[in-house]
Amino acid sequence: MGDSCANRPSALRRRATFSGVRSLTVQPASGGSATACSSALTASSSREPGQPNGLHTTHSKSKHEKEEKRKRRNDHSGRLSCHQHQQSLLSSSSGFSNYRGILNWCVVMLVLSNSRLFLENLLKYGILVDPIQVLSLFVKDPYSWPAACLVIVSNVFILAALYTERQLSKGSLSEQVGLLVHSVNLSIILCFPAVVVLLVPSISPVGGVFALGTYTILLLKLYSYKDVNRWCRELSSIKVKTLSRSNSCPSAPPVIGVDQIVCYPGNLTIRDLYYFVFAPTLCYELNFPRSPKIRMSFLLRRLLEMLFLTQMLVALTQQWMVPIIQSSMKPLEEMDLSRMMERLLRLAVPNHLLWLMFFYWFFHSSLNFTAELLRFGDRQFYKDWWNAETVTYFWQNWNIPVHKWCLRHFYCPLLRKGFSKMVSQSAVFFLSAFFHEYLMSVPLRMFRLWAFMGMMSQLPLAWLVTRFLRGNYGNAAVWISLIIGQPIAVLMYVHDYYVLHNGQEIH
Ligand SMILES: CC(C)(COP(=O)(O)OP(=O)(O)OC[C@H]1O[C@@H](n2cnc3c(N)ncnc32)[C@H](O)[C@@H]1OP(=O)(O)O)[C@@H](O)C(=O)NCCC(=O)NCCS
Repeated sequence: MGDSCANRPSALRRRATFSGVRSLTVQPASGGSATACSSALTASSSREPGQPNGLHTTHSKSKHEKEEKRKRRNDHSGRLSCHQHQQSLLSSSSGFSNYRGILNWCVVMLVLSNSRLFLENLLKYGILVDPIQVLSLFVKDPYSWPAACLVIVSNVFILAALYTERQLSKGSLSEQVGLLVHSVNLSIILCFPAVVVLLVPSISPVGGVFALGTYTILLLKLYSYKDVNRWCRELSSIKVKTLSRSNSCPSAPPVIGVDQIVCYPGNLTIRDLYYFVFAPTLCYELNFPRSPKIRMSFLLRRLLEMLFLTQMLVALTQQWMVPIIQSSMKPLEEMDLSRMMERLLRLAVPNHLLWLMFFYWFFHSSLNFTAELLRFGDRQFYKDWWNAETVTYFWQNWNIPVHKWCLRHFYCPLLRKGFSKMVSQSAVFFLSAFFHEYLMSVPLRMFRLWAFMGMMSQLPLAWLVTRFLRGNYGNAAVWISLIIGQPIAVLMYVHDYYVLHNGQEIH
């Protein structure tokens, strides 16, 4: 009888085994197990084929359910049949989708295989982690902080944008002149830090990325600020009664205890603009959704995550990435494809893990920390890009602030002007490729176009994946493109930078 129990579907056994064991302890062996089996079998026959066999049932059972179970246990006719029409769990037609255990297995395997690599690395190189060396990446001279000074100077451009908007709201500037002033301001934001980084040798590459990244974010934010204020002027100039209920200025009266609703041009204040500058979004709005209060425990958790992951990122880069990069600097004596592939994969794995950690550190911990601190309500910084079955889905979901900006301020305006979807998408990817290249080439003072090409290649890749792959195959293709393609472009720069600066030492 015990055997007959063991022959039942596995998921069912997970639940029924316990009741069977309990029955066995209080009843004669055969009878007890028969009762347990029959009750379980009757229970199983009452299920629909394809149903995940009660894996999701809760532990707290209602009285009614217990009564049903007792009745089924005493139902002798149930013992006569023990089969039903049903699919194996791993068949897609079974409808079973709970693969949590398999996901955990993947994580355990990943940790085990990487622990081996890590031990090998430790035995070969010893401990390479050096926090002082990290500081030297940001500043070359401890008494001079050019990148930080560059960031402080950016306040001039923020105030220039605000001043221009105030003049426009008063009618002191015409729309054309306002547009010209904004264009000049935004062009300076783009060019000025690049020129400084290229001309001031004391700015380190990491300091340069930090400064240029800050200016790029500011450029996108001020562009959005300019657009939204213009839309508000356009709306208020149309004398239609219903427009007083526009999104930018809802007509609901302010509620006590709730943040005041701001209307144009009441938003043109230093406080409002600086809130937007620090808020974790690139798209301006007069009335951002706000959370009622700062949750201290949430804030603390995100802060600890940030600190821990920063340490991990730095330590893994020094201990794992740098030795691999240094060992793969030596040029190959002949075109050996297998050696090249081996180098590529050795670099891709740690790079990809660091990229994943960076994703969590930035998009979850840091952006949520900032949002909580500023009581910024919209926390959708990413969506489920890891389930992407197409490259397009990945770009729509992995970096929501950038995607939102692209849609609102670039893609949709192009579509509205009559450009086709294809042309508009290509234009967005071209712009994105330009900024990726800008953020890599200028700080490294080395123009190679790897990032530009990497981003532009997303268009044909997106077409290929959508055209030829579906479902899990599409998802695997997206992962492979991330693991092999995207990080390799970054590594190309590191490689070329090392060769450029340490060429003599390598040979
Ligand atoms: C190019 C890109 C913006 C296209 O986005 P997409 O979501 O595929 O675009 P879609 O064609 O599906 O349209 C999206 C929205 O545009 C708007 N839209 C579509 N056609 C429109 C039209 N003719 N007029 C106005 N708006 C229109 C709609 O709001 C639509 O949303 P909906 O589908 O919910 O109705 C996106 O792929 C992207 O952001 N790429 C760049 C990402 C990037 O570089 N990130 C950098 C990360 S480091």
